[in-house]
Amino acid sequence: MNKKNSNNIGIVGTGFYVPKKILTNFDLEKIVDTTDEWIRTRTGIEERRIADDKEAASDLAAKAGAKALENANINPKDIDLLILATHFPDHYFPSTACITQHKLGLENAVCFDLSAACSGSIYSLFVAESLMKNSNYDTAMIIGTEIFSRTVDWKDRNTCVLFGDGAGAIIIKKGLKGKNIISFDFGSDGTGADLLKIPAGGSRLPTTNITIEQRQHFIKMEGKKVYKFANKMMVDSVIKALDKVDLTRKDIDLLIPHQANIRILKAVAKKLHLPLEKIMINLEKYGNTSAASIPIALDEAITQGKIKKGDIVVLTAFGAGLTWGAIVIRW
Ligand SMILES: CC(C)(COP(=O)(O)OP(=O)(O)OC[C@H]1O[C@@H](n2cnc3c(N)ncnc32)[C@H](O)[C@@H]1OP(=O)(O)O)[C@@H](O)C(=O)NCCC(=O)NCCS
Repeated sequence: MNKKNSNNIGIVGTGFYVPKKILTNFDLEKIVDTTDEWIRTRTGIEERRIADDKEAASDLAAKAGAKALENANINPKDIDLLILATHFPDHYFPSTACITQHKLGLENAVCFDLSAACSGSIYSLFVAESLMKNSNYDTAMIIGTEIFSRTVDWKDRNTCVLFGDGAGAIIIKKGLKGKNIISFDFGSDGTGADLLKIPAGGSRLPTTNITIEQRQHFIKMEGKKVYKFANKMMVDSVIKALDKVDLTRKDIDLLIPHQANIRILKAVAKKLHLPLEKIMINLEKYGNTSAASIPIALDEAITQGKIKKGDIVVLTAFGAGLTWGAIVIRW
């Protein structure tokens, strides 16, 4: 990461959209063998949103993107680049980014999807920022959009209680003073690819009657292993990203982590010696919305007045792949 080149690209707008339908822990008690108490104490989640039958990933994305455009006061035609992160696109192809482009009227944007699971939105920011530095692209939108209610197994209490539907968008622009992205750290480790995945439906295991009968099209996860990985990698990545610009964990004003589990967030806070007030937490309302989680949390942090000019804001995520990363922003 080059300090000199990065400090002129910053955030100019954010927005998010979550479906209206709320599914509480008490509702889940009627679906699987679980309790509100187990879910709250083991994860911190109280409720999550569920998309309408007619809503696809691009519908949620377009609503979040429209709010970000309004918030940034930017004409759709001025967006040069759209990177969209999702684990469950509208179709295998075309990309959900292209479908969203059409819905938003981003007629001058180059559009593509990015697959990095729950790290998807910060990976997208990283890629967008890097592309902008090396091109004449001036303004980019990144969107994380997820419909988990169609990929979790509603018979599997280990996973269905964790996730929720939603979308979040961030717009970045060149030549901005303030809200600048000043550092990154990113990593991937494919040796952990089996820890969290949807086994069937791809070229490895195409859809057959058997894969459907075996419920192989739903998310499978080794929760404990993912938990350990998350605790370690988010902390390491935050420290590395800060170190690249001669900052330390003491400089963090607000940490916006991927909203997966309150116990993970508390463990990360402890390792970074941060009081909980310096951690953005909203997972009780939405559950884990994967690539949408950080843009949603960032937008809420801004509207709740948790960020002020000059603050050091750090975004960090982990996800299937395995993937992880951190981004440092000087607000
Ligand atoms: C999934 C997770 C909440 C499980 O918490 P945990 O403390 O590891 O719980 P365990 O898996 O050890 O399960 C403990 C017990 O609770 C049970 N249990 C699991 N889900 C349950 C549920 N929804 N309700 C009630 N009991 C449940 C288990 O069956 C197990 O019972 P047993 O001891 O009789 O076998 C936790 O491992 C986690 O958050 N992992 C990370 C997942 C994640 O973030 N994934 C997304 C990555 S982006």
